[in-house]
Amino acid sequence: MEYDNDENTWRRPSSLKLEQTACHTTPRRSTTIAVVVLGLAVLSCLLGYCVLSESLPYESKTLRLVIILFRHGARTPVNSYKSDPFKNYQWPDGLGSLTNAGKLQLYELGKKYRNYYANFIPEEYYEKDVYIKSSDKSRCLMSAYTFLAALYPPSERQLWHPEIPWQPIPVHSLPKHLDDIVAQTKPCKVWKSMYQELLDEKNADPKFAELFDYLSKHTNQSMRSVLDVDFLYSTLLAQQDAGLKLPEWTKNVFPNKMRTPFMLSLALLSYNKTLQRLKVGPILAEIKINLQETVNRANSDRSLFLYSGHDVNVVALWRALGYEELLEPEYGASLVLELHEEVEQDSFFVKLFYRNNTKVEIPMELNMPFCDDPCTYKRFIQHIESLIPADWEAECQN
Ligand SMILES: *[C@@H]1O[C@H](CO)[C@@H](O)[C@H](O)[C@H]1NC(C)=O
Ligand SMILES: *[C@@H]1O[C@H](CO)[C@@H](O)[C@H](O)[C@H]1NC(C)=O
Ligand SMILES: *[C@@H]1O[C@H](CO)[C@@H](O)[C@H](O)[C@H]1NC(C)=O
Repeated sequence: MEYDNDENTWRRPSSLKLEQTACHTTPRRSTTIAVVVLGLAVLSCLLGYCVLSESLPYESKTLRLVIILFRHGARTPVNSYKSDPFKNYQWPDGLGSLTNAGKLQLYELGKKYRNYYANFIPEEYYEKDVYIKSSDKSRCLMSAYTFLAALYPPSERQLWHPEIPWQPIPVHSLPKHLDDIVAQTKPCKVWKSMYQELLDEKNADPKFAELFDYLSKHTNQSMRSVLDVDFLYSTLLAQQDAGLKLPEWTKNVFPNKMRTPFMLSLALLSYNKTLQRLKVGPILAEIKINLQETVNRANSDRSLFLYSGHDVNVVALWRALGYEELLEPEYGASLVLELHEEVEQDSFFVKLFYRNNTKVEIPMELNMPFCDDPCTYKRFIQHIESLIPADWEAECQN
């Protein structure tokens, strides 16, 4: 981080600085140069550079840190059901695997963020700038890789093979039974029994009885839980995406009637504050440290954290940040947290955005229900601290 006296702001050393300076100063040495520089500036404006920077919804001068959690791309089905006409369908890459369309989605998302943060994320990849964590599931790791391929295409210096315009970038992950951060699958006893209690309670809701009957009859298996509906919904969606023709009976219930119980099933993992502490607490603790380090200038190089997870992880963070609406995160949906610094007021604040899918151009800014707008760093930390267990293992009674 360096202080720019002309602009009265802190800024990251960036290759774009030269370009920006060139836009403002007129070299005295020669008018020819001035004309060329001006011409280039106008040309780059015409080509979209100025338009792009104007449409960026943040004041790039205040941005200090970006944290993105995204869902993996389109996948093949994980489950089947008794009467499934595609039970024996041969998925070339196996069940639950990222499809080529899914690879492309995350590549597209990486490109969107590359353009969106063109003034903030350095064009060249440096290990010190960015840290990537993924769920250990292959589809999440692979999604992270294609995202990074688009975010950091190698510069000329970084090209290491004449035929591969790609560079390796590390993605870190913990095995499933240890991952309390991204996939949030590390076992927690108290969470498990509370979740089961809540699931039983919701399943007994009479408003689902008719749907459960219909699905049980047509799938030829017991469908008496929103979790069953969740699995079936995801399976039908994946089959449909793959161009398979779903059975006639699905038309009455899929996707519309199945959507609410499906979204409820995703939400139950982080339904109330107790469940959120146990499920989302550890990633919130990590987010807190990341924000603190930037605020305290303990790690001013690291400006980007990426998390590659699942729909339930996006929903869990969404709920922990105060939203109660049910959410269906599409493939590649992402939540973005930005840390800003208002130098003149000597204060930091936090912004939250949601990008429904990989097609959206500009993420939608969300107002966090527990916070004013702008949401101060202090208030944000206070909120997440209320969801961070001091001793997770003890609270889980593991
Ligand atoms: C439903 O299951 C029963 C017993 O498991 C089987 O005999 C029947 O053929 C199945 N029907 C369909 C439509 O799959
Ligand atoms: C969350 O739900 C569980 C299961 O119903 C319950 O035991 C727990 O007390 C609830 N927590 C809060 C804060 O409501
Ligand atoms: C995107 O998600 C938000 C939040 O759930 C929702 O309000 C909005 O309608 C969604 N937009 C689209 C195009 O799905």
